[in-house]
Amino acid sequence: MPNLADLELLTIYASSFASSAQPQPFPMQGSKRAQVPIINKLIPEDAALLIEPFCGSAAVSIGALQAKLVQGAVISDLNMDLVRLWESILDRPQELNREYAEIWAAQFNEQGEATDPRGYFNSIRERFNNATPEQRSASDFLFLLNRIVKAALRYGKGGQMNQSSDGRRTGAKPSTVSQRIQETADLMRTAAALHRDWREGLDQATSADVVYLDPPYQGTTETRDQRYVSGLAVEDFEEGLRGAIDRDLSLIVSYDALVGPATYGRPLDPRLGLLGFDVITGVSAQGTLLGRKQEAHETLYISPALVERLGGANAVIDRVATRPEALFEL
Ligand SMILES: C[S@@+](CC[C@H](N)C(=O)[O-])C[C@H]1O[C@@H](n2cnc3c(N)ncnc32)[C@H](O)[C@@H]1O
Repeated sequence: MPNLADLELLTIYASSFASSAQPQPFPMQGSKRAQVPIINKLIPEDAALLIEPFCGSAAVSIGALQAKLVQGAVISDLNMDLVRLWESILDRPQELNREYAEIWAAQFNEQGEATDPRGYFNSIRERFNNATPEQRSASDFLFLLNRIVKAALRYGKGGQMNQSSDGRRTGAKPSTVSQRIQETADLMRTAAALHRDWREGLDQATSADVVYLDPPYQGTTETRDQRYVSGLAVEDFEEGLRGAIDRDLSLIVSYDALVGPATYGRPLDPRLGLLGFDVITGVSAQGTLLGRKQEAHETLYISPALVERLGGANAVIDRVATRPEALFEL
């Protein structure tokens, strides 16, 4: 087989796929929900489990389960707060919803006014941060996720959640949150959530599964302003990928954040032999702020074993090719 990395990147326009009407249990910057319709096309018909070792809000697992493309999902993340929230969503969704409703309601006075939403947010964040990692409350975390600026989860050096609240908003209503959580729990009945490093997720996968990898962006890991709990060096990521490729695992990888002409980070090593796609995800918010319309790009890579399982590179390209008239226009 020729090296798939030598093929020219095929451009895919996310906007030419119908969006996935799937539940999102909590807001999270970096959610891959918009790419689910593309990723679903890359899941083979005989896939057993969807393994998602950098799960965050697990948009891809939710999407694959909703489309009934896999029999179950194993989601995991190194961020213990997220995993504990996921455990609550999967194991005790109604209790979690009741707790959220109580936390949300306590910010209003008897007249139904929230006189100090920001102060209230800060008090919940303090309570959350003062607890030991094992004692941190999943419902406090859910409330914080529903209130933080741009749903961008940030931590300080000591592991303290330090993102501030989004203005004077009071956060999503309990009825909205409870619907999101319950729908997610129903869809994910066959899923398990684990606290572990991504490599353990890969170790567990077999060639019957599909593994979706969405590591923290290079652009955010080396900066002081960390978007995720821990950074990941690109060389370490490639080393893990190499081992998984040698074991013939079916991998789908989201990687790098390109905004117009600027690239954060570098492409993955061509020697890995991955088939790459340039996905145009929309207009970059950053570019628009500067008064220019710029496309936002992401690269999707798939492993040689998955390419073979899907019938070869041309068959894969046919699966995701879009008609020219459907293309996204700036
Ligand atoms: C780009 S986000 C994933 C977003 C996800 N695809 C979604 O739809 O919400 C990356 C995730 O990787 C997690 N992470 C960072 N380093 C990790 C590691 N070494 N092992 C496992 N998870 C890690 C972060 O906590 C974060 O949730």
